[in-house]
Amino acid sequence: MQTDIGKKAAGEKAAEYIKPGMTVGLGTGSTAYYAILRIGELVRAGMEIKAVATSEQSEQLAREQQIPIIPFDKVEKIDIDIDGADEADAQLQLIKGGGGALLREKIIAVAAKEMLVVMDESKLVKQLGKFPLPVEIATFAWELTFKQLAASGANPVLRLKDNNRFVTDNGNYILDCRYQKIHNAAALEAQLNSVPGVVENGLFLHYASKLIIGYQDGTVREIT
Ligand code: 5RP
Repeated sequence: MQTDIGKKAAGEKAAEYIKPGMTVGLGTGSTAYYAILRIGELVRAGMEIKAVATSEQSEQLAREQQIPIIPFDKVEKIDIDIDGADEADAQLQLIKGGGGALLREKIIAVAAKEMLVVMDESKLVKQLGKFPLPVEIATFAWELTFKQLAASGANPVLRLKDNNRFVTDNGNYILDCRYQKIHNAAALEAQLNSVPGVVENGLFLHYASKLIIGYQDGTVREIT
């Protein structure tokens, strides 16, 4: 993975919020990657924390970094979740799921006391929607779910990887929905959740506590 100064600065800044004894949610993607590397350094320097991961990829990275991953039946609390975003606005509303981990990411974001969003400056937008909204759907009769979403104006595209259908860690498909501009995110979220076959959508409207934005010169700005 290429070093990206803004992403690295944001990821490393977020790790500063971790204190001994915390249980930490580990996000997914190329920005959360830098937070996980820094958390690994803290652990190897003696800081005692526990962690849960939002994807198999992040869990593997955490294990390589010697970060203790605990099973979900042993989780009493999640103090901080550190995760990336595909878009964020100044009201701390997010689009997530570009990496396909939105379901696990949302489950952990909801459970966490705080969600720190790590991102480079390119992710900050005035209005959500330019980034296609990922919607995770069941594989059963997915074509019918696709048609329902198409009829609602979502302009869905089935996500592919290497010319095959992309399959999430949960065994589902992703439809990337091209709205261009999302005017009423709460209404859209409710509408998507009402479609049978939709497992989860990539709108994260009420979870972020702080945006940590990294810039190409290595500086960081926080929006709370
Ligand atoms: C994965 C995500 C990621 O957090 C999002 O795609 C941002 O990734 P990156 O930091 O690589 O740009 O939602 O499902």
